[in-house]
Amino acid sequence: MKAIITGVAGFIGSTLADRLLHEGWRIVGVDSFEDYYPRSYKEHNIRQASGHPAFTLMERNLLDLGADGSLQELMEGADVVFHLAAQAGVRASWDSGFRVYSDNNVLGTQVVLEAAHRAGVQKVVYASSSSVYGDTDILPMREDAVCRPYSPYGVTKLAGEHLCGLYGGNFGLSTVSLRFFTVYGPRQRPDMAFHRFIRTVLDGGRIAVYGDGLQSRDFTYIDDIVDGIIASVSAPPGAVLNLGGGSRVTVRQVVAALEEATGVQIAVDYIESQAGDVGHTAASLENAHDLIGYAPRVTLREGLRREVNWLRGRPGDTQGQG
Ligand code: NAD
Ligand code: UGA
Repeated sequence: MKAIITGVAGFIGSTLADRLLHEGWRIVGVDSFEDYYPRSYKEHNIRQASGHPAFTLMERNLLDLGADGSLQELMEGADVVFHLAAQAGVRASWDSGFRVYSDNNVLGTQVVLEAAHRAGVQKVVYASSSSVYGDTDILPMREDAVCRPYSPYGVTKLAGEHLCGLYGGNFGLSTVSLRFFTVYGPRQRPDMAFHRFIRTVLDGGRIAVYGDGLQSRDFTYIDDIVDGIIASVSAPPGAVLNLGGGSRVTVRQVVAALEEATGVQIAVDYIESQAGDVGHTAASLENAHDLIGYAPRVTLREGLRREVNWLRGRPGDTQGQG
C-alpha cells in the first residue's frame, strides 16, 4: 500500500508514519516545517522514518504543490491520503494569526481534495477536531450534534469537513473526517498543556493553569489515535467519527496525576481564561466503535507516565506559542 501523509513532520503525522512503515506501507510525506514551534522538534520526529527505504520526504508547502499540479502527480498511484497538515492550536487563531489558519487549514484542505480527486485516490482521511463542536453542555459530543465552533481554529477545521463532504457529494471522492480529542503522549506539540506542564515541572518551575482549572477534556493517547486513523481507511465514504480517549478529566485532575507521575508537589498559578477555550469536551465513541472497531486502550496514568519519560530524555527547546 502507498500513502501520502501531509503534516508528516508533526506530532501525529510522524507517529503515524513510523507505524505505517513498520506495517510495510510506502510513504511519501509532505511538510513545510511551519515555524509555529521549533524545527528541531520536527527533525527529531522524522529521524526514524527518514532512515527507512520506503519513506520519501518532500519539504514543500501544500499550497505551492497544489498551484503547479505537482500535488496531483505525487498522489498518482496512492491508495490513501492521510491529511494531517494544518495550523493547529486553538488559542493562537485570533486576530492577525487567523490568516495562517485559513491558508493552511481551508485552502490547504481544498488543494489536497482537488488533487486527490483528480489523481483517483481511493480514500482521504481528514484530521478534524473536537473543536468543531464548540462550547456546549451537551455531553458526550455526538457526531450528529449541531456544530458551533468557539474559536477561529474550530471554524477552519469544520470548513475542512464541509469540503470533504463537497468532494464526496459532487465527485464521489471517498473521505472520512476524524474528530480527534486533545491528543497527548511522546512528540506532543510544545504549545499543548501536558508538554508545557511536564517541561515546567521537570525544570522546577510553576505551571500556569488557565481559568479555575475546572475545565475538562477527553484526553486521547497518541497510539490510540494512530490505531483509529489506520482503522478508518475502511470506514464508509463520508463518515465523520470522534476519536477520544474514553474518559474526561479536569485540568486540576491532570495536575494531581502529574504529581503522582513525577513525585513532585506542583506549584500552580491560576491565570485568566483564554478566548476560544471551551469548558468541556467528551467524545461519544459509539459510532467509531461500531464502524471501525475503535476502542482506546491507554489510560491517562499510563499515557502521562510515557510522556514524562519522553520529556525527561529531551533537552529543553524553546517552548511554542499557545
Ligand atoms: P503539528 O503542528 O505537530 O503538525 C502539523 C504539521 O503540518 C506541521 O509539521 C506543519 O509544519 C505542517 N503543515 C502545516 N501547514 C502546512 C502546509 N500548508 N503545507 C505543508 N505542511 C504544513 O500538529 P498535530 O498536533 O500533529 O496535529 C495534526 C492534525 O491533527 C492537525 O490537522 C490538527 O488540526 C489535528 N488535530 C490535532 C489535535 C491534537 O490534540 N494534537 C486535536 C485535534 C485535531
Ligand atoms: C488541543 C489541540 O491543541 C488542538 O489542536 C486540537 O484541535 C484540540 O485539542 C482538539 O481536541 O480539537 P486543547 O484542548 O486546548 O486543544 O489542548 P491543550 O493545549 O492540551 O489544553 C488542554 C487544557 O489545558 C485546556 O483546557 C487549556 O485551557 C488548559 N491549558 C493549556 C492550561 O491551563 N495551561 C496551559 O499552559 C495550556
